[in-house]
Amino acid sequence: MSRPVRPPLVLSSTFVFDDADAMDRAVSALDAPLYTRWDNPTIAGVEARLAALEGADRGLLLSSGMAAVHLAWLAATEGGGPLVVQEAVYGGTEELLRALPWPGVRRLPIEGMIEAAAALPAGAVLHLELPTNPHGRLVDLAALCAAAPHVTVVVDATFASPVLLQPARLGAALVVHSATKYLGGHHDLIAGLIAGEAGLVARAWRWRKVLGPCLDPAAAERLDRGLDTLELRVLRQSQTAATLAGRLADRLGAAAVHSPSLPSHPDHSLARRMMREGLCGGVLSFSLDDGAAAARLMNALRVIQIGPSLGGTHSLITRPAGVTHANVPAATRAATGIGPGLLRLAVGVEPADRLWADLGAALDAALSGALEHR
Ligand SMILES: Cc1ncc(COP(=O)(O)O)c(C=O)c1O
Repeated sequence: MSRPVRPPLVLSSTFVFDDADAMDRAVSALDAPLYTRWDNPTIAGVEARLAALEGADRGLLLSSGMAAVHLAWLAATEGGGPLVVQEAVYGGTEELLRALPWPGVRRLPIEGMIEAAAALPAGAVLHLELPTNPHGRLVDLAALCAAAPHVTVVVDATFASPVLLQPARLGAALVVHSATKYLGGHHDLIAGLIAGEAGLVARAWRWRKVLGPCLDPAAAERLDRGLDTLELRVLRQSQTAATLAGRLADRLGAAAVHSPSLPSHPDHSLARRMMREGLCGGVLSFSLDDGAAAARLMNALRVIQIGPSLGGTHSLITRPAGVTHANVPAATRAATGIGPGLLRLAVGVEPADRLWADLGAALDAALSGALEHR
């Protein structure tokens, strides 16, 4: 006997039964696949793999990271809320917050988050991103969950991946990911993940069934393949990002570079305690004088490509003020350091020296204004 080394891809949208009673049982007991919007063996296999990676009771795959945030909030606020969201989250999450009438919306800055969470009313849902985008800010999650056991904590850990941080093990009720990023890792799929407490994930499953943002099984199988190299990729991307952050800090001054890998970062020592090997993922940000200098740098790059997103094999650069944070109110952007000269670099798996040669030459061009001579 032999068997395939990879799990089979089940594309079937519909499942058929040997007799009428078996189908009725599948509908009521959910003990067999029936229809892929409800469940699918390929998707269920990847969900189980992701739940194990997160140390969570159950995982649920969705058609995008935004669907994951949406359904996590729907499931978590069924008790009535209020919904409390960290200041300056991903722009799409900001838009979702304004798009629907969420109960009792409030915002909290990262500074003082633990004390503020402890003072929230019972039943509150607190959504935060760890590390934050693009400054890599962190909160001591175990301390926060211990201080606020009456709060349902939802952590969007897209920027960490389960390789570096497993929020469910530190007390978060739900973990959310844009699986489009590190989990998939190859710029070839859009997907989202919710993982966490069984009861809350079961509520989110019901919302998936009702609203319909299920993942295509073919995308789930690509995601499964991406997971085979997740740890290799994330460790390398994080180490390269730390190397580049150090070299950028030497060149621009530490105050201009935002990465928890740098001793100058406000959460450096927390990162060393909370994140695996003190690593914080492949994203770093740095500031040039203004938007024009940032554009000169971007236009001079030859290896690093201009584009949104992060966590994949290819390095990408953006100006957050006009892209990821375009939907964040201008006052919040200013208060949270998202200026026009800020650049976000999402490091891929290319060799660090190749990336630094590219970045160093582009910095020369940007800082001297010598782009036209290249
Ligand atoms: C932190 C974070 N959460 C959620 C999302 C949304 O994910 P998706 O683009 O897969 O819908 C993104 C997308 O960039 C993100 O950066």
